[in-house]
Amino acid sequence: MKDFRAKRILSMSTSIFSTMSELTRQYNSVNLGQGFPDIPGPEFVKNSACDAIRNDKNQYAPSDGILSLRKLISEIDAKQYNLNWDPTSEITITAGATEALFASIHAFIEPGDEVIIFEPFYDAYDADVLLAGGIPKYVTLNKPDFSYDKEELNNQISDKTKMIIVNTPHNPTGKVFTYEELDYIAKLAIENDLLVLSDEVYEYLTFDGVKHIPIATLPEMKKRTITISSTGKTFGMTGWKVGYICALEHLTQAIRKIHQWTAFCINTPGQHAMAEGFKQFESYLPEFHKLYQQKKDLSVKLLNETPFEVYQPYGSYFLMIGIPNGMFLNDVDAATRLIKENGVTTIPPSCFYKKSDEGKTMLRICFAKQDETLIEGIKRLQIG
Ligand SMILES: Cc1ncc(COP(=O)(O)O)c(C=O)c1O
Repeated sequence: MKDFRAKRILSMSTSIFSTMSELTRQYNSVNLGQGFPDIPGPEFVKNSACDAIRNDKNQYAPSDGILSLRKLISEIDAKQYNLNWDPTSEITITAGATEALFASIHAFIEPGDEVIIFEPFYDAYDADVLLAGGIPKYVTLNKPDFSYDKEELNNQISDKTKMIIVNTPHNPTGKVFTYEELDYIAKLAIENDLLVLSDEVYEYLTFDGVKHIPIATLPEMKKRTITISSTGKTFGMTGWKVGYICALEHLTQAIRKIHQWTAFCINTPGQHAMAEGFKQFESYLPEFHKLYQQKKDLSVKLLNETPFEVYQPYGSYFLMIGIPNGMFLNDVDAATRLIKENGVTTIPPSCFYKKSDEGKTMLRICFAKQDETLIEGIKRLQIG
């Protein structure tokens, strides 16, 4: 029989998450690796989902998403950032941020188009650009503060560049892009007539008074920015996969063309549940902040007592730790041995880099976990 597989899948390898999950299961290790909260989501969101199901909100939703949810997102973005989106023509509900990324990249990237991706990157960026036939061009966020080198960014831009992908707050480093960093990217985008795809799924998770800045709020940027977020992160319920895209109408129209032939529409009860979440957002947000600030502080304090160096996070629910010199061959060796010998799972981040070797010297920790899990997991990082 011939090999029926499309060429586009041949270079795709098994995700590191599957490998680490399998080892975690085998060795029953404490999981500080995978990026999901093991904390229950808010009761009012859960109740609202149950009500929606019981009240027969179980048929197809409109392709763009239920209007009540889009209106609430529009109101919240206006309040938080002074960004005014028209809920009918500028907001689209998607199957998580994952589908939002796929649709946004496939709507604009053609074979041969170059896309700037900051590394370490969320792995879907690279995969989506390659699937669309685009060419990723990488710019490294350098430790310890994960800032980029302006010269390196300038050098990656060519007459084939069409898009810059920004992720702030950033997975896996916990970096939050500063105004100055975003302004430089914005100026380059304007000067070279580029689109910016801004993944802001952790927009409500920042620490120590650091503020999240949507790049769409910078002068002249709204018309060339596609902003993506996810209620899975905002309400700590990743399994519902309700994401959204905000972009001006000319961009939204193109994105909706891909959305209609991929997901078409998103699960209806999940959208009603998240609409309820946003209705109660004002009272929910300070509690959410407080909880994650406490988890970040606890994790950093405990990690500082281990031989691993902590790279201070300012946003998201991830942070990077530096592997002590000479103790392991590289990040994959460290992560594998920590599961097998110490019973704790982390994520080796070298697969989120394509250019720099820095990933081999670090591990990613997810601190969206119950305190007991964090305490036990980090205790198991006591080595040597
Ligand atoms: C930076 C980033 N973007 C997008 C996603 C995907 O979000 P969703 O679960 O809503 O598809 C994730 C999930 O971990 C993420 O970390």
